[in-house]
Amino acid sequence: MKGILYFSSTGNSLYIAKKVKEKIGGEIKYIPNYNGTGREYEELIIVTPIYSYGMPTPVYDLLPRLDKKKPIIVIQNYGGMAARADYLFFDYAKNTCKLNVVCMYKVKMVENFTLYFTVPKYYQNMQLKKCVGRVDKIIDKLSKYEYVLPKKTKTRKEKYLKNKSNWHLIGRDFCANSNCVKCGKCINICPVRNISMKDDKITFGDKCIACLGCYHRCPKKAIVFKNKNKKFRYVNPYIDEQEIGKDL
Ligand SMILES: Cc1cc2nc3c(=O)[nH]c(=O)nc-3n(C[C@H](O)[C@H](O)[C@H](O)COP(=O)(O)O)c2cc1C
Repeated sequence: MKGILYFSSTGNSLYIAKKVKEKIGGEIKYIPNYNGTGREYEELIIVTPIYSYGMPTPVYDLLPRLDKKKPIIVIQNYGGMAARADYLFFDYAKNTCKLNVVCMYKVKMVENFTLYFTVPKYYQNMQLKKCVGRVDKIIDKLSKYEYVLPKKTKTRKEKYLKNKSNWHLIGRDFCANSNCVKCGKCINICPVRNISMKDDKITFGDKCIACLGCYHRCPKKAIVFKNKNKKFRYVNPYIDEQEIGKDL
């Protein structure tokens, strides 16, 4: 049995994980809730977004504890600019964590880092349509054992991997505005339990990993960044939003 380990805040990675399961088979596990080493699986497939040319904190924290012998396939996905995030991941996984990474693919999906800009609807729809074919193509290659690895490159690895240690700073700039109905969804979906109800108010702590799950998935769009009244939110429309964060 293959273990499909994913991290996702707005569903793009879950969409890919589900496609992998459908076409290749396996068991889907949500990384923030997964405490294992992957030993129970014959092979691991890690599906992760690219964050700031690096990787989300839960993925960074997972790699060092994975079984060193287990063959690992990685599918990274991103919104627009991946730079050398593939080699950076490979270098960290292979050389620092001593993992047996056998194949890596990266696929362009839809941008969800939209705190500072809005993706035009037509462009988003175009990307959504394209990503279906892109994902199918990669899974087809995987099913035929067409394995590839990123080429060595000179990358400012310290800079990009260090980004994750600064994400918590962003947490200070989120708050719930008057649209908040105190449903508690943001509290439940935060992968690092950084959101709580204090004095009957949604409160953000100092452990934010900048995944933007609360921001995009609040049913009332009540979570705002720097008090801006932006309307744009994104969740991958090809999956059931309730499934993000679940094992399937
Ligand atoms: C904190 C953060 C940083 C990101 N950095 C990048 C980046 O460097 N390059 C890029 O192309 N997309 C970047 N993205 C966009 C995501 O990689 C992309 O939208 C991904 O498909 C989201 O996956 P998900 O829906 O599974 O969470 C970033 C998103 C977030 C939340």
